[in-house]
Amino acid sequence: MAADQLAERDTRVSTQRATRGTVTTARGRIAALTSALLLASCGGGSGGATGSPAPTGAQAHDATLLAGRNVFSADCASCHGARGQGGVGPTFHDGRLQRDFPSAEDQVSFVSRGKGLMPGFGGMVTRRQLEAVVAYERQVLTHAR
Ligand code: HEC
Repeated sequence: MAADQLAERDTRVSTQRATRGTVTTARGRIAALTSALLLASCGGGSGGATGSPAPTGAQAHDATLLAGRNVFSADCASCHGARGQGGVGPTFHDGRLQRDFPSAEDQVSFVSRGKGLMPGFGGMVTRRQLEAVVAYERQVLTHAR
């Protein structure tokens, strides 16, 4: 084999090595990025930092409202917004909630049955949780901005 052919082969081999090196680095970076994203999306799961407003003042330690906030974050915020500002589902800030449901009991029945795009939660959460999330919507979210 002539010397210049050998030299050409050497170049090709080192190019391949260099390319492989780059791929490995990129894969490492993607793995690091993925675990960072996972960490970010799990943040606050059990700590209660939900992005939905906590009850304040005299209500700050109300066990029903605190439980309602957890149900709301887990099952309702995706459609009604973390602060009840609305999204796929209507806002709770414009007085419509109080007009549609003068009594909390009517609202509990509604959430239990669901309507249109809104799933019924009767079979998914306990009666206590239904009452808690309704209390949270009426007493905390209607005042949140
Ligand atoms: C998949 C989206 C979605 C989820 C999840 C969801 N909702 Fe809804 N919600 C809606 C939609 C859409 C409406 C309007 C239904 C209609 O009137 O046709 C609605 C309406 C309501 C209303 C009536 C509002 C009014 O003023 O008339 C209440 C109360 C309510 N939702 C509470 C809840 C609660 C509590 C949860 C969680 C347990 C929840 N929603 C989860 C989409 C959703």
